[in-house]
Amino acid sequence: MANDASTVFDVVILGGGSGGYAAALRAAQLGLQVALIEKNKLGGTCLHQGCIPTKALLHAGEVADQTREAAGFGVKAVFEGIDINAVHAYKDGVVSGLYKGLQGLVASRKITYVEGEGRLSSPTSVDVNGQRYTGRHILLATGSVPKSLPGLAIDGNRVISSDHALTLDRVPKSAIVLGGGVIGVEFASVWKSFGAEVTIIEALPHLAPLEDENSSKLLERAFRKRGIKFELGARFAGVEYTETGVRASLENGKQVEAELMLVAVGRGPVSQNLGYEEAGVAMDRGYVLVDEYCRTNVPTISAVGDLIPTLQLAHVGFAEGILVAERIAGLKVVPIDYDGVPRVTYCNPEVASVGITEAKAKELYGDDKVVTAKFNLAGNGKSKILKTAGEIKLVQVKDGAVVGVHMVGERMGEQVGEAQLIYNWEALPAEVAQLIHAHPTQNEALGEAHLALAGKPLHNHD
Ligand code: NAI
Repeated sequence: MANDASTVFDVVILGGGSGGYAAALRAAQLGLQVALIEKNKLGGTCLHQGCIPTKALLHAGEVADQTREAAGFGVKAVFEGIDINAVHAYKDGVVSGLYKGLQGLVASRKITYVEGEGRLSSPTSVDVNGQRYTGRHILLATGSVPKSLPGLAIDGNRVISSDHALTLDRVPKSAIVLGGGVIGVEFASVWKSFGAEVTIIEALPHLAPLEDENSSKLLERAFRKRGIKFELGARFAGVEYTETGVRASLENGKQVEAELMLVAVGRGPVSQNLGYEEAGVAMDRGYVLVDEYCRTNVPTISAVGDLIPTLQLAHVGFAEGILVAERIAGLKVVPIDYDGVPRVTYCNPEVASVGITEAKAKELYGDDKVVTAKFNLAGNGKSKILKTAGEIKLVQVKDGAVVGVHMVGERMGEQVGEAQLIYNWEALPAEVAQLIHAHPTQNEALGEAHLALAGKPLHNHD
């Protein structure tokens, strides 16, 4: 029998993005009655404005670069340019296929899916479309939206957010990217591949500043080689319109002009005017505060995803959603080790990591207790074939486990799977060195880095 608003659900979920729908799917699988409320499209930011469409753009960029560089592989090809409408058709096709699949999945699990804007009306209910949905538990999963800076207006035309950048009807001739974090370097990479002149402005001393400094430096070297410009340690002072575009000023007095400016200074939680304060949910700067089991201070209310102050990654949302569903169903759950979450930035070259940086390891264990090893992709056959440069760096606690893996190079995102097993299973370098890695693969480079750390480097140039 289909559920309706008169049912008391086991869980009412507000927000159908990665965190919310993963919780819904897992809860339903465990036999719980689930209502899932979404105001926009099932799948949320990741599927419609984030991970999936941006990676499709980045792949189109990779095809463009490969076409330009085809002669270097002995292949005759002429790069004529980007047909942006066709790029969007390809990207939208990927998204709509996954969207249909997800809708089918939610329907097949007998989840009560409600389209509309919900509002928390009590610690056990959400109002939507004039109906009240009551649950033993409520899960808040309303996600995040692009942030701006105080006084910086995003007009959607010359000063844009990543939402606008995803549907831009042209390749800009030139672009300023404000913020050299994940979104900033990914869009800088796409636009450069599509033929734009790009300048990144980053307040901190490095691009991708949350990564190990070695990875940031390698990325900067690669971007310099690609002709992507950047101003580091440069705080943004303001932007003005010119006749044809924008002029950004930096606090150090420099100015940069371009056709448009992308604001990529972070994403902020969606938590205003949704009844959270009224229900007594504790928040900090808009983020809903939770314990390690994603429980808020209100016993019936949990929260997951970009709404809480953990890593803003779709796979973190999935994991948090599953954790809440299992906890509500009475299963034993363990807190997430957020350092063990793999992180991939899909610019060209890719930056991938898991575990902690060398700096953090030294802070935690002391300078003399931290050992590192690097393997340069110049010594890796498959990377040579692909003509990609980069490095794998390992961070180890002296005589102990590997606590950080940091990789830069084309396709390095695909190597993070093994890296996360190494970190999360607390592998010793000698144990990984014992495992045979297939030749010739880029994966082999990860094996070689461990051979180096175990004191028996094979193809290492360092
Ligand atoms: P971010 O926090 O990663 O980067 C924002 C950057 O802007 C920071 O490096 C910051 O120092 C800089 N910034 C802030 N104010 C500035 C100023 N006044 N002047 C100059 N620079 C300034 O945020 P981003 O890139 O917008 O991404 C948002 C979230 O989305 C992140 O948490 C990210 O993890 C997630 N995301 C993940 C992706 C992936 O996993 N591949 C892809 C895209 C986004």
